Amino acid sequence: MKIILLGMPGAGKGTQAELIKVNYNIPSISTGAILRDISNTNSDLGAKVEHYLQSGRLVPDEIIIEILVNRISEDDCSNGFLLDGFPRNIDQAQALKKADVDIDFVVFLNIEEQEIIKRMSGRRMHLKSGRSYHIDFNPPKNFNKDDLTGEDLIQREDDKPEVIKKRLEVYFKETFPLLDFYREESNNFFEIDGSLPVEDVAKAIDNIFSS
Ligand code: AP5
Repeated sequence: MKIILLGMPGAGKGTQAELIKVNYNIPSISTGAILRDISNTNSDLGAKVEHYLQSGRLVPDEIIIEILVNRISEDDCSNGFLLDGFPRNIDQAQALKKADVDIDFVVFLNIEEQEIIKRMSGRRMHLKSGRSYHIDFNPPKNFNKDDLTGEDLIQREDDKPEVIKKRLEVYFKETFPLLDFYREESNNFFEIDGSLPVEDVAKAIDNIFSS
């Protein structure tokens, strides 16, 4: 099963990706998480990537496409995978086609822009795993601790209001056109109301996969 999750920053892609990974036993590949790992390395590439993440702009295609194409050729992806955060623009979608990747489901989590600020400002994250929580909507079992490891949660640097604004601008300019791209390209484009509670969004996704 090869799945793409699309949606605005903060729409809930990472939250659903974590559930799909467990329920369907496929790796969830978050390009945001891969890039955050790279930005933490003490290297020229790390410094370059960090600069893009902190500004809210997309990391250049020549960096991320190669990383992603290599990642999905690894053994654990042989039975499928879920992409969270890729593609982010038409050129990245074309790169998937060029690599002969046949996508089974493109799922768009639709949510109003005004909901996004609430979601991102309350988000807390377990950096190593990418698991995300929300102080009100999806709290961890123990205050500020990851449910599985008990390690501390952090607030992401790019969840500051001015960076959120830039990320939304970038989304509408670069990523939004992908919706029409996949509506036209694929019979497997599905739209879900992403403003529903986490478990209802998860049910809607399960219904799609079992249809
Ligand atoms: P990335 O990490 O991919 O961030 P994003 O797409 O902006 O998405 P987020 O992780 O912010 O949100 P999400 O949709 O996963 O929501 P979440 O589940 O956490 O990318 C970061 C940066 O990396 C980019 O800005 C760019 O610079 C770079 N990058 C990444 N991919 C790239 C690419 N392909 N090319 C170039 N650059 C790239 O949920 C948000 C909050 O809401 C959480 O607190 C959660 O608990 C809560 N929540 C989730 N669902 C619900 C619900 N149903 N109801 C209530 N609360 C909910």
